[in-house]
Amino acid sequence: MQIDPSAWIDVGAADELAARPLQQVSLGRKKIALICKDGQFSAISGVCNHAGGPLGEGKLDGDYVVCPWHYWKFHCRTGEGEPGYEEDRVPAHDVRIENGRVLVDPEARTKRGRKPHAPHPLARTPQREPGPIRVLGLSTTAMTAAQPRYSTSEDLLSHALQRAAGDHGCETQLLRIRDLNFRECEGFYSKSSRACTWPCSITQMDSSDQMDRVYEGVVHWADVILVATPIRWGGASSLYYKMVERMNCIQNQETVAGRHLLRNKVAAFIITGGQDNVQGVAGQLLGFFAEVGCQFPQFPYVAHTRGWSAEDMENNEKFVQHSASLHDGAAALARRCVAMAQVMITSSLGEGALVRGGRKGQQLESAVQRVVDAS
Ligand code: FES
Repeated sequence: MQIDPSAWIDVGAADELAARPLQQVSLGRKKIALICKDGQFSAISGVCNHAGGPLGEGKLDGDYVVCPWHYWKFHCRTGEGEPGYEEDRVPAHDVRIENGRVLVDPEARTKRGRKPHAPHPLARTPQREPGPIRVLGLSTTAMTAAQPRYSTSEDLLSHALQRAAGDHGCETQLLRIRDLNFRECEGFYSKSSRACTWPCSITQMDSSDQMDRVYEGVVHWADVILVATPIRWGGASSLYYKMVERMNCIQNQETVAGRHLLRNKVAAFIITGGQDNVQGVAGQLLGFFAEVGCQFPQFPYVAHTRGWSAEDMENNEKFVQHSASLHDGAAALARRCVAMAQVMITSSLGEGALVRGGRKGQQLESAVQRVVDAS
């Protein structure tokens, strides 16, 4: 429906609209947040400056409309952002009451304004820097920080990283997820797929949230991602799930924005438990990392359990700790991943990509990046 800009739009009966302090109304295709505070109507754009959240579906906090997606605030009469962010404003519309009806001027009284926000460092375009294969280990074992204990999966992961560095000249990094202080995914995706942003909205809003280290490692640094988990009642560790729920924003970029954050990445897994269900855990891990765009080597996980009735966990620990074959298996897994990453990287970026400062690699990378940026 086309709006005649000179015509005020009747959005409903005043007594009915006054029953709700905040609601979304439509002026043709334009969404408006209609406010009724202390008996006074006012109207601002219903589209949030941040990621387009529906302001009229938020709530009123004093004089401010709070966006339901990530809680930015806008003054209910002026549309200005909260103190300190006044420049971040949404258009305000005039409202009048005539014959018991609420009329809104479709022509905004003020313009939308955006306070310049420096882009989050993670928002940069992923671009592989030339240099050796980089292997990121993610240990998802939980334990008391001040009283560390032996972990079978972390032991095998550490060994795989050592061998990747020692045997193949890789750069390696181990992130123990338990050392990171980060919030659970708060389900912005459940409000709207567009409310799930990259970088994650929590990361953008909370500088103390340390999930940024996982994002930096996975998206911008690693060629190989080795994930280690214990088996906990037939599933991966709770820290694994806490971490991958926060990685939904990476997968969401694929499905909603058509943006591939992970390219040429290899993932593989180390799964250990006193009891069973290796296949179930592996299926979970493979499914998720496939969906964020990773490739897998042949035989993409190593695992060990001693079966359902093996309750003597102390013996399980001793067995893994002293098992040369399990450690060799972890090293072999790293070797398969590194070989696969080398093939993928050199075939798309050239041999020089694996040499730090290699000109050929840089030129090819720039060329590939231009194609990625243009797509
Ligand atoms: S705060 Fe409104 S869309 Fe993010």
